[in-house]
This record gives sequence, C-alpha cells and structure tokens, in this order.
Amino acid sequence: MIVMKAGILALIWAAFLLVDGQPSPEELAPLLDGLFDRPTQEASGTAADLQKRVPLMTDDPTVAPLIDLQVFAPPVVPKGGTSCTVKLLEHSFGVDSFNKPAIVSYLPPVSPQCGKVGEWAAISLNLSVFSIGTQYDRLGAIYLSHTEIWRTSSAEPTKTGTIWTTIKDMTKYTPLFAKPGDLMMDFSNIVDTSLLLDAAFDVTITATFYAPTKAFPTPDTPDLIISLSNLSPTLPNFFTVDNDAGATTVTDIPDTTEEAYVEIICSGNSAEEFWYLNTPDEFIDTFPPDAGLIGKGPFREVQVLVDGQLAGVVWPHAVIYTGGITPSNWRPLTSFGAYDQPTYWISITPFIPQLLTANRSHTITLRVQGQGSNPSINSNWFVSGSVHIRKGKGKITGKLTKHEVGPLEIKTTGGATAGNKTLHTRVTAKRKLVVEAELKTSHGRQTVTFTQDLEYTNEADYEDEGWIQRGAQSTIGTTEARHGVRLVLRDAFSYPLAVFSNYSLFTQELGGYGSDIHQNHTRALQPPFGFQRSIHSVQHAKGQIGMDDWPGLRHAINGTGETTQLFAYSDGRGETYFRDVAAMNDGWVKDEVWGTLKDANPPVPRSQIFGPGGGPGFRRMVARGRR
Ligand SMILES: *[C@@H]1O[C@H](CO)[C@@H](O)[C@H](O)[C@H]1NC(C)=O
Ligand SMILES: *[C@@H]1O[C@H](CO)[C@@H](O)[C@H](O)[C@H]1NC(C)=O
Ligand SMILES: *[C@@H]1O[C@H](CO)[C@@H](O)[C@H](O)[C@H]1NC(C)=O
Ligand SMILES: *[C@@H]1O[C@H](CO)[C@@H](O)[C@H](O)[C@H]1NC(C)=O
Ligand SMILES: *[C@@H]1O[C@H](CO)[C@@H](O)[C@H](O)[C@H]1NC(C)=O
Ligand SMILES: *[C@@H]1O[C@H](CO)[C@@H](O)[C@H](O)[C@H]1NC(C)=O
Repeated sequence: MIVMKAGILALIWAAFLLVDGQPSPEELAPLLDGLFDRPTQEASGTAADLQKRVPLMTDDPTVAPLIDLQVFAPPVVPKGGTSCTVKLLEHSFGVDSFNKPAIVSYLPPVSPQCGKVGEWAAISLNLSVFSIGTQYDRLGAIYLSHTEIWRTSSAEPTKTGTIWTTIKDMTKYTPLFAKPGDLMMDFSNIVDTSLLLDAAFDVTITATFYAPTKAFPTPDTPDLIISLSNLSPTLPNFFTVDNDAGATTVTDIPDTTEEAYVEIICSGNSAEEFWYLNTPDEFIDTFPPDAGLIGKGPFREVQVLVDGQLAGVVWPHAVIYTGGITPSNWRPLTSFGAYDQPTYWISITPFIPQLLTANRSHTITLRVQGQGSNPSINSNWFVSGSVHIRKGKGKITGKLTKHEVGPLEIKTTGGATAGNKTLHTRVTAKRKLVVEAELKTSHGRQTVTFTQDLEYTNEADYEDEGWIQRGAQSTIGTTEARHGVRLVLRDAFSYPLAVFSNYSLFTQELGGYGSDIHQNHTRALQPPFGFQRSIHSVQHAKGQIGMDDWPGLRHAINGTGETTQLFAYSDGRGETYFRDVAAMNDGWVKDEVWGTLKDANPPVPRSQIFGPGGGPGFRRMVARGRR
C-alpha cells in the first residue's frame, strides 16, 4: 500500500511540473493532498455469485444489468433541510427518434419542501438511462426553454442490459427553472435491425430542488439567462456549424445589465469527432486515401463574437465518446466528459456599453475555426450556449477601452521520410487576448477586463500508410475576468491527450484494430456564479477489437479493453471527492471512493466487481466467408 501511494505521488508531481503553472500549485494542492491521503479501504473483492458474461452480440442471461458510468463529483447540496424530487421526463428513444426530441412542459415545483420558487439552495438533475441490445454511441442534449443545460452521450449497451446514471448541478440555471417552459431532450437514435442496431435508450430525468437552510442559504445565481440557440420548438437547439460563417442569434439585453457571461457547450461530430487526430492539409496526400485520414488539421478554436468582434475563445477538452477510437476501452468506465461534457465561460461584460446603445439589435456569433480553408473545418460541430446576466440598479454606460486580439499564431511543420514511409507533423498555436472597458455603474466607475492566454501543441507520427498513428496534444491556458481588483472568473486548465491507434490489420478478413490512450483533465475553475472547483482526472485506456468480413457490413466479433482512472475534486466550500477506479473487459476491476462527498456518489456495488482479471470481454460466433 505504501509503495502504491508513493507511486501515485510521483506521477502526480510529474503532471504538476508539466502543466507549467496552470492551474497554480495552490489550486492543485487540495487535489494532490487528497489523493495521497487515501483512507484504508476494505478490498473491493469479488462477488462470489457473479456470473461471467459475454455481453455484446450475445443473449446469455446475467445476474443484473451492467452498471456503466462516467466518474463525476456529485453536486453539493444542503444537509438536513427539506427537498423534493420531481420526475421531469420519461422517454424511450428508439425507432424514429432521430432528430425527434422528446418535449414536455415544465412547471416550477410548488410543494413547500422544495423551497420557494427561484430561491432554492440547489437544484440537481439525475439523468438515468437503461439500454439493452446493440447500439452505437449517440449524442444527447437537454434543453430547458430552448437553452442547452446538458450535453451527454450514450453507453454502447450490452445484450444483457446496461444502466448509467449521472447527477449534475443545475443551480446556476435557477432563472430557467423558476419559470414555466418546456424541457426537451434530443437523443437521436437509430434502431434498424438490418444494421443489427436494436437498442433503444430508456431515459428518466428527475430534478431535486433543495430549500435553503441557515448553513446553506440561497446562492447567488444569474438574474436572467438568454439562450444562444436556434430556438426551434421541435428540433435539436444547438447550431450545426460546418463552415466559417458560424451561427448567429440576435439578443435583447436588458438596460440594467451589469455583468454578462457566455457559457458555451460544443462538440465535434462526424468528420470532426476526432478533430485532434485530423491531419494538416499540407500532409494529407502523403499516404493513399484508403486509411481514411481526415484533413483540416487537429487544431480547433470555438469563438464568441459580439457584433462581429472576437470576444473570447474556447480551446476545448476532447471528449471521447463510448464508441470512440476503440469502443471496448470505454465499457463500463467511460472517458471524462462522455456523459456530462464540460462547458466553458467567456465574459462579455466589456461589451455591455456597446450592447446597450440605441440600436438594440446585436449579434452574438458562435463560430468554429479550424486549420483548413473554405471552410476551415469539416462537417460538423454542434455548438450552443447562453448568456448569464447579473443586473444592477441603473443603466450602465461606458466604453470599450482595449480590444487587443492579435491574430491566432498557428504554425504547422512536418515532413515525410523517404518514399513516404513515415510522416511527422507538428502544430503549435498561441493566443493572447485582452478586452477592457470602463463602466459607469450604480456603484461607481469600474475597469472590467477579460484576458486569455492559451498554448497548444499537437505532434503526430504516422506509419504503415497511415494505418498507424500516434498523436500527442497539449492544451493549456488561463482565462480570467476582473471587475476592478475582484476576480469574477478564472479558468486555468491543462488537457493533455496521447492517442496511439493501430489499424494495420483492419482490412483483413478477421482483422481488427486497437489503441492505447492517455488523457488528463486538470482544471481549476472559478465560475461567474457559484463556488470555485478544481478537478484532476488521469485516465489510461487500451484495447483491441476483432472484426468479421472485409469487405461488407462489418461487425465486432470480439474485444478486450481496460481503463483506469484516478479522479480528484475539491471546491471552495471545502468539499472533496476522490476516486480510484478500474475496469477491464466489460467488468469492474476495482472502485474506491473517498472525500466528503463520497456518500453522494458511492462506488459500484460489490456485486459488480469482477476483480483483477476484469470481465470476459465480448465475443460472438461468426459465420466465416459470408459474402
Ligand atoms: C497525466 O497525469 C499523469 C499523472 O498525474 C502524468 O504522469 C501523465 O504524464 C499525464 N498524461 C499526459 C498525457 O500528459
Ligand atoms: C437517479 O434516477 C434513477 C432513475 O429514476 C434512480 O433509480 C436512482 O436512484 C437515482 N439516483 C440518485 C442518486 O438519486
Ligand atoms: C508523398 O507525400 C507528399 C506529401 O507529403 C505527396 O505530395 C506525394 O504525392 C506523396 N508521394 C506518393 C508517392 O504518394
Ligand atoms: C444595428 O446593429 C446591427 C448589428 O450590429 C446591424 O446589423 C444593424 O445594421 C444596425 N442597425 C442600425 C439601424 O444601425
Ligand atoms: C498493430 O497491431 C498488429 C495486430 O495486433 C500487431 O501485429 C502490430 O505489431 C501492431 N503495430 C504496432 C506498431 O504496435
Ligand atoms: C478475435 O477473433 C479472432 C478470429 O477468431 C482471433 O484471431 C483473435 O485472437 C480474437 N481476439 C480476441 C481478443 O479474442
């Protein structure tokens, strides 16, 4: 045990040196100390009655549905007060659910246990999904009154049933929950037995509202939230962005707006799902097209523009979905963000004087910049957001005094060895941005600033005509907003990602593919509303998939995969959550949870722990030589 602790500490210090002061040592300390201070736990053991099962593509009976999960820190809620739980939606996304969101009307809860409407201490949402059969990973989004509040995706289920539950803090969306509206969930799924895709997603969403207590009063939440979405009453509300034009919304900002922050939710899909592995156009012709390398480079920047002026950018964490790179890596433990994608903040407070001019029609654009030309990205990104507003007493006046937004410094180098045997590419990017305004508010004059300082490197090595690729990406940065000397937003992050993928034998009959992936998510966030929170997630996954015929409709016939994760959370209220978890071959290996929030998101039940060897992986019988 002592040896293990020392090992973890050494690893953590290595990461700490890598991140180059972002987040700061002070921000990281509670995470690293907490991981080190692991209480002695009962060995998670192996349940004697657990039957080994062979889930995908087989129908053997099993003891219970597989519990699948993305590790998350549970919401911080009052203890000892009253609360109420309301079912918001129950829906099966099966046949005919593609582009057909479920829509129900929403009414704020009125029972006294919930607390007064709009004065809740906390709101949490429980998204629980059951699925049985065979299905790809699918993207999901939840909207309240056409504002996206949750971007999620699905497990690749098992033939014997899979269940996953994620709980998310929704307190910052209090103004939306305080008004009648509608709740919409899009979980575009395709059930088609000719493709052997037979699994629906049975979704239950419940909301829990907590009344304030003495120790846990009503927190500071936005006065108003304005949606940045296409507002369609029936279709998914995120913008589909696949060219440089981006997507726009005209908003009406109230006169007394004193602070305004844009929250952004974004994900690459189709040819942009693995954007961080895309090849710079300069080198796309190095190999024959068979390996299917995708162009327009690996760098992506999500931009927020106010009346056409760049207000801020997001260099996102790469969320790998459960079918991503090698599906057997991510069941039953997903990558960070698969069921609850991170969101990002930009302060547009310096633009308030401009937004409040006589001409009240303004444009906020969400745009994605890549490395190609006309358009700079492939198809497509799904992007949406919302403006979170804090109102003051009178009308704000003032002016933008600084808008230093240099061009994006992006550099692509690389080259192939003789005869194009191997290729190396390197993309680096830097961005510094300073936006400043002098505001006259009800409490006097104030200088407001928004700054970003971001750095990116992506190195890729290819061999075997592009069938083997090693990509290593580092994205680090700090985003800050200050009002006078008061820090109102700080986001310091490091998102390293290393992917080795091997498709050498892909085109052979009974060939296959595999990968080895390291991914971290280290982020210290002081959001504009709510308490400071820090996360350090360290994941390693590797696996192999065996395929049937080539050519033809191909299926996975067997697979192995293993994932380990070390997760640490701490926040400005002194709450912590730590988890050391591992899964292998469709079974849980171990799961240890500690920290003050441990009971709100406990480890998987012991009856699900297979022990050190993991599960059996999956396999199915295949008729050879089917043409
Ligand atoms: C992630 O963090 C671990 C330890 O905290 C470190 O050893 C590793 O190098 C990091 N991964 C990457 C891809 O940088
Ligand atoms: C989440 O919701 C599911 C389905 O309604 C329920 O079974 C589960 O107990 C809930 N989990 C928590 C922690 O509330
Ligand atoms: C070798 O790669 C370069 C681009 O890096 C490409 O222009 C050239 O056509 C390739 N040669 C062959 C024989 O494919
Ligand atoms: C008002 O502002 C919008 C956005 O900047 C612009 O497109 C429009 O032409 C302006 N209208 C007038 C009357 O100035
Ligand atoms: C790629 O996978 C094949 C099949 O498993 C294996 O023979 C080969 O050595 C792998 N290549 C590399 C570079 O790991
Ligand atoms: C998958 O099946 C193929 C063909 O039967 C076999 O060669 C391979 O070893 C199997 N792989 C695993 C991981 O079971």
